[in-house]
Amino acid sequence: MNIYSLAKPLLFQLDAETAHDITLKSLKLAEQSGVLSLYPKALTCQPRQVMGITFPNPVGLAAGLDKNGAVIDGMAALGFGFIEIGTVTPRQQPGNPKPRLFRVKEAQGIVNRFGFNNLGVDNLVENVKAAKYKGVLGINIGKNFDTPMENAVDDYLICMQKVYAYASYITVNISSPNTKNLRALQEKEALSHLLAILKLEQTKLANQHGRYVPITLKIAPDLECEQINEIADLLVEHKIDGVIATNTTLSREAVQGMENANETGGLSGAPVREKSTLVIGQLSQRLQGAVPIIGVGGILSGADAVEKIAAGASLVQLYSGLIYKGPKLIRDVCKTLG
Ligand SMILES: Cc1cc2nc3c(=O)[nH]c(=O)nc-3n(C[C@H](O)[C@H](O)[C@H](O)COP(=O)(O)O)c2cc1C
Repeated sequence: MNIYSLAKPLLFQLDAETAHDITLKSLKLAEQSGVLSLYPKALTCQPRQVMGITFPNPVGLAAGLDKNGAVIDGMAALGFGFIEIGTVTPRQQPGNPKPRLFRVKEAQGIVNRFGFNNLGVDNLVENVKAAKYKGVLGINIGKNFDTPMENAVDDYLICMQKVYAYASYITVNISSPNTKNLRALQEKEALSHLLAILKLEQTKLANQHGRYVPITLKIAPDLECEQINEIADLLVEHKIDGVIATNTTLSREAVQGMENANETGGLSGAPVREKSTLVIGQLSQRLQGAVPIIGVGGILSGADAVEKIAAGASLVQLYSGLIYKGPKLIRDVCKTLG
């Protein structure tokens, strides 16, 4: 019996966002009081070399759980090989009205329509500076909801400039379904334009800082084969360093008729597993190893992570699985991947 299996029934009695907030606060307190240093670490994993970075193990925290980078040391203590914070936007914004987080318990899924609630990029940078963590840190960036789409590139540039010095890699999130029209940036012309500008900025910042920080692109699971191929080709053309597949899905096929299935937002957890793996497989086939893939979506067991690696991912990330299985999942996945 671990602590999470005791806490889970209590947390699941609460509304999902309250449980989320309590969990993050408890994790921060546990870390600050030193209790977490007793937490058993994943020792069985081999380091991986991806995008020129050494990952102590291939299991990462997916974006969205620690949007402001307020709990980096607590997350690190759980044994992740890398941590992705964000999505952060240039200016702070409240996100969508509550309720905006729902469990689809029957399918071990989650629907969220947070809408990039965050305290802004300056706050995130202060949090990163204050953290003790020295491991691999991804910083996931996005646009403010009220920045017009034609100026979206500016928001990514502002965030990129501000986080560059503090990130091991920077994720460009164009796949959240909860910011109006964001996913349109995945279309060929818009994406080509965005990637060209971000690549130029990366080169400029690399010279300025004397350090090359890889860029990854995070994509949706709701893409046709042809779109996936187009995106893969653009990643190669613009020399983007990695791709994270996938974000949450708009599809409700896997959860029809279940409680909360019809809430608006992105669906994650077990119901997105297969879709996400299919996208990784298609990307991998097209990329032929030219750009590494980070696999995320519905990993709730070691076997689910093996499926992502078999489809072509080099690393994996977890979010919803942590809610349903607790932090022990990190060790389980590490152990299975070896
Ligand atoms: C409540 C919640 C909030 C999320 N917020 C973000 C976010 O801010 N940025 C992002 O790139 N992905 C976000 N995601 C997507 C996850 O990082 C991940 O890609 C997706 O949930 C699939 O993985 P999972 O099935 O393991 O949860 C969020 C997911 C959830 C459940």
